Amino acid sequence: MGETILVTGGAGFIGSNFIRYVLQVEPELSVVNLDALTYAGNLANLADLAHSERYHFVYGRIQDTALVERICRQYNVTGIINFAAESHVDRSIHSAAPFIDTNVVGVLSLLEVVRRLEIPRFVQVSTDEVYGSVSHGFSTEEDPLRPNSPYAASKASADLLVRSYVQTYGVPAIITRASNNYGPYQFPEKLIPLMITNAIEEQPLPVYGDGQNVRDWLFVEDHCDALWQIYRKGRIGEIYNIASGEQRRNIEVVEMILSFLQKPTALIRFVADRPGHDRRYALDTRKIREELGWQPKVSFEQGLQQTIQWYLENRQWWEAVKDQSYRAYYQQQYGILSAEDSNG
Ligand code: NAD
Ligand code: TYD
Repeated sequence: MGETILVTGGAGFIGSNFIRYVLQVEPELSVVNLDALTYAGNLANLADLAHSERYHFVYGRIQDTALVERICRQYNVTGIINFAAESHVDRSIHSAAPFIDTNVVGVLSLLEVVRRLEIPRFVQVSTDEVYGSVSHGFSTEEDPLRPNSPYAASKASADLLVRSYVQTYGVPAIITRASNNYGPYQFPEKLIPLMITNAIEEQPLPVYGDGQNVRDWLFVEDHCDALWQIYRKGRIGEIYNIASGEQRRNIEVVEMILSFLQKPTALIRFVADRPGHDRRYALDTRKIREELGWQPKVSFEQGLQQTIQWYLENRQWWEAVKDQSYRAYYQQQYGILSAEDSNG
């Protein structure tokens, strides 16, 4: 029997893609997925693995230190990759407390288990948002943390906790900071899946502010590949930026989606800007490229096309996800935006 790793938050977007990826590339590996099944967690994301002998699901929160410890002992876990988080900036603006609870207290709980049980590997999946907005140039791993949203602040806090556990207790941890991901199974509150699903339904596409904010778009499978390389070959105590270099303005992304789907640009609505909206994120990725030889395989055009195709073919998945609580969130975030609204 091969090794078993614990993936936390594996029922969400990136975690579910990661589990599918790693089970495919590592035929001897087993995965335990601990997930609290929040609004963003969905067992349908891994329905194809339900009967695999190399995949086990445990329902629970990462803050439950005793549970995490029990899982690690029971499955003889040799490493943990933490995806579990509250992950949406707009939700953190409405209510920050759950972000501190999961993203900070939860990470402390995992670090405690890693320390006590001497787990050989811990990877904390973090984000480019911890660096804050960068008007020009690229953020390196050494740059100061200047988070601007409660979400980013919670992730930055976790990064600092991880660092302190490496320095103080010598826990074998690595931090990764990735740019905006996109791909199959992404919850339709984030830019790309929101715009794709709204465009398919010919509903308005809400663009914040002037639509000129820049993000670097990383195809989720390229991220999974980077994470697994870092897990296996990354240096303990280090931080690795992960990005594609595919920078786009939001309005460009929205127009590309409309063009692929052959829908009219008249669906675009410029709406009130997000408070504290970061203008641009951009990562310097020389470290992961030079040290680990990683590079992205999928161009933005290819990845976006593949993603749009997935949402066209998996309408049942996203229609089920757009449930009552989603509609309540949508109403709170966007107010009444109907197809009949006039623009502006
Ligand atoms: P997601 O919101 O789709 O999924 C989060 C998952 O964590 C869900 O399955 C949820 O049920 C689970 N979860 C939440 N609270 C939990 C708790 N207390 N205990 C156990 N499970 C819990 O998020 P995602 O987009 O897949 O992001 C995964 C990770 O990657 C996050 O840590 C996020 O900060 C980071 N990240 C995301 C992006 C991106 O573009 N999506 C970019 C860089 C980094
Ligand atoms: P998002 O997917 O929320 O990721 P992040 O804020 O973590 O980068 O948003 C990506 C960009 O798209 C960001 O600049 C905000 C913008 N945006 C809109 O213009 N409209 C929307 O409805 C959403 C959700 C995002």
